[in-house]
Amino acid sequence: MTSKPHLVDVHSFAEPAKMRVRHVDMDLDVSFESRTLSGTATLTFERVDRSATVLTLDTRDLTIHSVVASTGHADFSPRMYSLGSRDRLLGSPLVIHLAHEDRLVRIAYTTHPDATALQWLEPAQTASGHFPFLFTQSQEIHARSWIPLQDTPALRVTFSAQIRTPENLVAVMGADHDRQAPRNGRYTFQMAHPIPAYLIALAVGDLAFASTGERTGVYAEPPVLSRAVREFEDTEQMLRAIERLYGHYRWGRFDALVLPPSFPFGGMEIPQVTFVTPTLIAGDKSLVSLIAHEMAHSWSGNLVTNATWSDFWLNEGFTTYIEQRIVEEIYGKARADMEAVLRRRALEEEMAALPPSDQILNIDLDGRDPDAGATLVPYEKGALLLRTLEAAVGRPRFDAFLNAYFERFAFESITTSQALEFIERDLGSDVPQLNGILREWVFAPGLPASAPLVESAMLHSVEGEASRWLSGTAGLDTIELEQWSAQELLHFLESLPMDVGAPRMAELDQQLHLTDSQNNEILQRWLEMAIRNRYEPAYPALERFLLNVGRRKYVKPLYSELMKSDETRDRALAIYRKARRRYHPITQTVIDGIVGYQEPALRA
Ligand code: BES
Ligand code: ZN
Repeated sequence: MTSKPHLVDVHSFAEPAKMRVRHVDMDLDVSFESRTLSGTATLTFERVDRSATVLTLDTRDLTIHSVVASTGHADFSPRMYSLGSRDRLLGSPLVIHLAHEDRLVRIAYTTHPDATALQWLEPAQTASGHFPFLFTQSQEIHARSWIPLQDTPALRVTFSAQIRTPENLVAVMGADHDRQAPRNGRYTFQMAHPIPAYLIALAVGDLAFASTGERTGVYAEPPVLSRAVREFEDTEQMLRAIERLYGHYRWGRFDALVLPPSFPFGGMEIPQVTFVTPTLIAGDKSLVSLIAHEMAHSWSGNLVTNATWSDFWLNEGFTTYIEQRIVEEIYGKARADMEAVLRRRALEEEMAALPPSDQILNIDLDGRDPDAGATLVPYEKGALLLRTLEAAVGRPRFDAFLNAYFERFAFESITTSQALEFIERDLGSDVPQLNGILREWVFAPGLPASAPLVESAMLHSVEGEASRWLSGTAGLDTIELEQWSAQELLHFLESLPMDVGAPRMAELDQQLHLTDSQNNEILQRWLEMAIRNRYEPAYPALERFLLNVGRRKYVKPLYSELMKSDETRDRALAIYRKARRRYHPITQTVIDGIVGYQEPALRA
């Protein structure tokens, strides 16, 4: 078994051994007419190699107007630069030739209307229907499509920003800012902690703010705000619980910003203002473990960051483990166990379809889109490894280990081998054969036989109900469905065979009103079953869902299911023709691949 060290970030043109950008100051105009950001980025850099004369930045589809530099004491003056050819995955390196005394470089630029990080929404795609909306999603390598910088998680920057918007809109960034600032189209931000580029984010829209506690609150469009506040009312309590476990929260505020439903992810751990999908709002807090997840990233991810995308499991595996600890603290062990079982099942399902090389934690992504690594493997297998270690040493000892880990690597970006070395040093004397255990978990495909069991008595009984109904020994009316949590209902559906048949689908719908479910996790699963079973009464809901929701995890399986059969393929294409321009570029890319959509014109 050999481990390939991933010391270089294969997804960036930056050369950190020569120069390092330490601060980014953005001065940007937001134009909804041209769908562009335009202005300047002024980078403060440090020469690591004294003889270096070239600063190489990552860009993608940026139009560069000028590059000037300064020593910091004198005026800016022009510098030679060249924009390399466009790599399909990585974009174009911007190579800047600097004078020896230069410390600051200012790039004037404009983004492309199809910039991969940005989504420009028509008013019709928002909750109010009255104002346009813009948001960014930079993870993994999209920051370069709106800011010229060293776009690698191995490096960290502080930043400041001046953002100009139409006067009736509000700009929010994950950084210190004045929540009471007048709505006048001019907004300023300061991020004093060094963070990796993928955590820089901006949202612009008709956003209102409401508090949920001393350090927590919600940004959302006015029609969504009160529902969001109710759904997320436990956030302050979660923050206190996680602090009890892993120490002081270092980012000041923890707010959630509710995006329109085209947001391609469930959540994104932007420091100080986590971005979330509105599909999270179920009315009963049943999906708020996602808030716990993004909060956990304030430690695993934002404080201690994966150095490359091959080390992504350090972000997501640690975070998934902590998320489950928070859920246990706030909602109890029964709920945490149910969620763990659901996700373990999803992992096993997904992993069965992955090639062995994608089943390892320290995945090789050379020549690939880093998003290829964003499967459930880093999340669930990563979390199971931590649970294995926890079981070996006991909770108190494992909590002490995690505290030491966050303390040791705070505000650093680390590789898998650095993490493994630390684990061995800290826990080696407590766990026999630790090296072998770690190597199997991190470098071998599949789940080790020693993986801890996850079990839920509640879900077990749901499986019993499902098989009794299937075998005809019990009717749906004998089950106490009203007592069930969303997790139980979801597990019930997942325990049925995918091809349960249209008559059974009709019975389920009649009893459980699944086509009208307010819980998107359940609705999505139901719609997948509806496609498979040609359950036509759910087709209008399916089309509405696909036109409205752009969350990748939800729409991807639905298009895949539609494409499986000749009978439903035309429906997929017809819906996608209308839906495509309503999705974020990140979702478009995935669905393009599934339905075989080709962009009409190649970009210059
Ligand atoms: N950082 C991720 C989202 C992400 C991952 C964006 C990879 C781009 C590339 C975020 O913390 C996350 O994991 N979100 C999950 C929710 C979570 C509860 C599993 C999601 O969006 O589904
Ligand atoms: Zn995450």
